[in-house]
Amino acid sequence: MGSNTTSTFEAHVQTLEARWWAALEDAGYDAAVIAAGQMADYYQDDHAPPYRANPDFAQWLPGDDTAGGFLVVRAGRPTLALLYAPKDYWHAPPSRPDWAEPAMEVRQFAEVESQHNAVVQALSGSARALLASQTPFGNFGCQAHNDLTVLHAVRFARAEKTLWELEQMRAASRAGARGHIAAAQAFHAGGSEFDINVAFLTASAQHAEALPYHSIIALNEHAGVLHYQHYERAAPEQHRSFLIDAGARTQGYASDITRTYAAQDDEFAALVQDFDVRQQALVEEVRAGRSYVDLHARAHRAVGDTLAAFDFVRCDGEQAVACGITHAFLPHGLGHLLGIQVHDVGGHQLDAAGTHGAPPDAYPALRLTRDIAPGQVFTIEPGLYFIPMLLDELRQSDAGKQVNWARVEAFLPYGGIRIEDNVHVLEDGVENLTRDAFAEVAGD
Ligand code: GLY
Ligand code: MN
Ligand code: MN
Repeated sequence: MGSNTTSTFEAHVQTLEARWWAALEDAGYDAAVIAAGQMADYYQDDHAPPYRANPDFAQWLPGDDTAGGFLVVRAGRPTLALLYAPKDYWHAPPSRPDWAEPAMEVRQFAEVESQHNAVVQALSGSARALLASQTPFGNFGCQAHNDLTVLHAVRFARAEKTLWELEQMRAASRAGARGHIAAAQAFHAGGSEFDINVAFLTASAQHAEALPYHSIIALNEHAGVLHYQHYERAAPEQHRSFLIDAGARTQGYASDITRTYAAQDDEFAALVQDFDVRQQALVEEVRAGRSYVDLHARAHRAVGDTLAAFDFVRCDGEQAVACGITHAFLPHGLGHLLGIQVHDVGGHQLDAAGTHGAPPDAYPALRLTRDIAPGQVFTIEPGLYFIPMLLDELRQSDAGKQVNWARVEAFLPYGGIRIEDNVHVLEDGVENLTRDAFAEVAGD
């Protein structure tokens, strides 16, 4: 970002001000202090895990060097960013986010005491203030800490992205797509998981600490471990399949992308192709006003239809769903809200008051139970896996009699398939951030 605030950033901050001011007023406050959070060393160590700001703060002011900072949000007045920039010859000082002005007033302090005094000073005309922070430390005279009446409202609204947020997510999608293309090339060149991971990081221009989440780089049966976390140094004897679930972050906003590849032009390749068509059909079904839970049920039907089409079951897709077979092949939810957090807040929140929308008993892993609405960004990530632990349970059940086990066992060495796109809901239809990004960077 250049030295001048873009107009979309100013509009973004104005939207946040409108949301916070209304939520504060409804709950009887006239100001909020939002703390970025602190670095904390590992136990008995003088090194800390990577800093990640409080998302309530990061939505206003992104950056990986805001530790110790505060925002003061006051109804009808300019928002203040009161940041901590200690004199320190061990580390480079935090950069000053000049670009955030004039959307907000930015001040930096070398001394904690003067910074805290500035927070207190900013609250001096306030009758009742709220502190939003991980811990209630240094409450500055605020009357309440993390009052959920306010936080539920602003977090519920967070699902609806501003134009500035969408710009960041498009950029994060392009960076992720560049990484994915390089990773696929490294796979087809016979690379190890470690090699592929390095190729992803280089092409997406990221260092590992800044990733939105630990990249999943899974060869062969490892693709059947939903959040496989290792990077094997040695390449396997044979490359059969490759599942990569990896994204990028731009100004704190994430992309979350999964692709699955076959090494040869074999039946697994045909299975991936079939599943990709079904995934895109699910994306086409995304519509404002629809229930995401219904869409998840449609994903189970898609899995059932694939199982039937590829002779994994001796019944049709509808029956495969009805007798519960698809749960063994798709044990996770269809997707989740996406934004500052990869699994963004509020997926089970049905309204601004915080009414909880638990997932149905049949789908306990579903992270999104809200109705689909314009401005939301979420993932559509159906999967079809061959997971020995779940297949063993299925085999012992009545429904297991409907399964063609010889065929299923032949696919265990491939692990499974997941295809994940990030979808922005429009008034009428969808923008597929991920497919658009792959198309855009193809010509790079
Ligand atoms: N990358 C984790 C997920 O897809 O939800
Ligand atoms: Mn995801
Ligand atoms: Mn993912």
